Amino acid sequence: EIIEQPRAVKATMAGRIKNNEIVFENDLSFLKGVNKIVITACGSAYHTGVVAKYVFEELLRIPVEVDLASEFRYRNPIVDEHTLVIIISQSGETADTLAALKEAKSRGAHILSIVNVVGSSIAKASDDVIYTWAGPEIAVATTKAYSTQLIVLYLFAIYAADKLGSADSKLLDTLLDEIRELPKKVESIFAMEDKLKTLAKEHYEMKSVFFIGRNIDYAVAMEGSLKLKEISYLNSEAYAAGELKHGTISLIEEGRMVIALSYYEELLDKMMSNIKEVKARGAFVLATAPEGNAAVGKEANEVLYLPKVHPLLLASVEVVPLQIFSYYVALYNGCD
Ligand code: BG6
Repeated sequence: EIIEQPRAVKATMAGRIKNNEIVFENDLSFLKGVNKIVITACGSAYHTGVVAKYVFEELLRIPVEVDLASEFRYRNPIVDEHTLVIIISQSGETADTLAALKEAKSRGAHILSIVNVVGSSIAKASDDVIYTWAGPEIAVATTKAYSTQLIVLYLFAIYAADKLGSADSKLLDTLLDEIRELPKKVESIFAMEDKLKTLAKEHYEMKSVFFIGRNIDYAVAMEGSLKLKEISYLNSEAYAAGELKHGTISLIEEGRMVIALSYYEELLDKMMSNIKEVKARGAFVLATAPEGNAAVGKEANEVLYLPKVHPLLLASVEVVPLQIFSYYVALYNGCD
């Protein structure tokens, strides 16, 4: 399923980009009345919502709340007919997500769901559905659904920004061009498999791992950490890098692995100081960086150089090596 991602991503965008325009089969005219967006989901689907918050707020300038469906359904959410509620689910059957949908609907919100399984309960209960075309996903730990959900979220954000006139049209064109290149870029990351396998072999016995990042790198840290713990049973935690100093730093000691997601160049200086801090305490630092940025390599023990993409799209390339790394760590630990 990891290897299928370029195809799945391509299938999800096919038919939705025509002559440089994004086309959705849905009537999305409700967009003009929206003053707040709430995204709710579980697990990795929730993590794509965390990425989307950064993308949507940048392009739409509408406040976005992201909430775990299991929390949303049991609070008193401020949602009304001017709220767009985006529900994300691979299966379309997750009980908490479906309950969150019903809660939002009962309060008058417009429900747009991003679902992989056609005709699922969530799809049926929504006002609008945009399908991901990931194909059947059998592994419980999602990979290709995550990647295809991102594509739908990007396309929706660009489409909405264009309709609302909330972002520069040149930026929207650039993003669309870059989205088209994503399948090839994701494919190129598979060349890193041997390196990731070697790193996994050297570190699979680690007791715990910390994923850190800022901005969208932080959103990817959450997913990387979940993937690793879900399939290898290792303890792993994701932290916003700026939070390290507020307690977590005391857990960093000799031999600890820190995965420092440092793709977001605007905050690279800040990440560099976080990397120095954890190295000073003896951590082994595996970092990410965009191709051509040698700065991180001066501090980190190992760097995964990833294809260049617009920062708003970085999750699509950065998650892939983390999936492959988790896969090999799990294999070396003798997991199923
Ligand atoms: C969990 C899976 O049980 O459910 C995750 O392990 C998944 O990978 C989550 O993201 C939510 O599932 P769904 O089908 O609603 O996307």
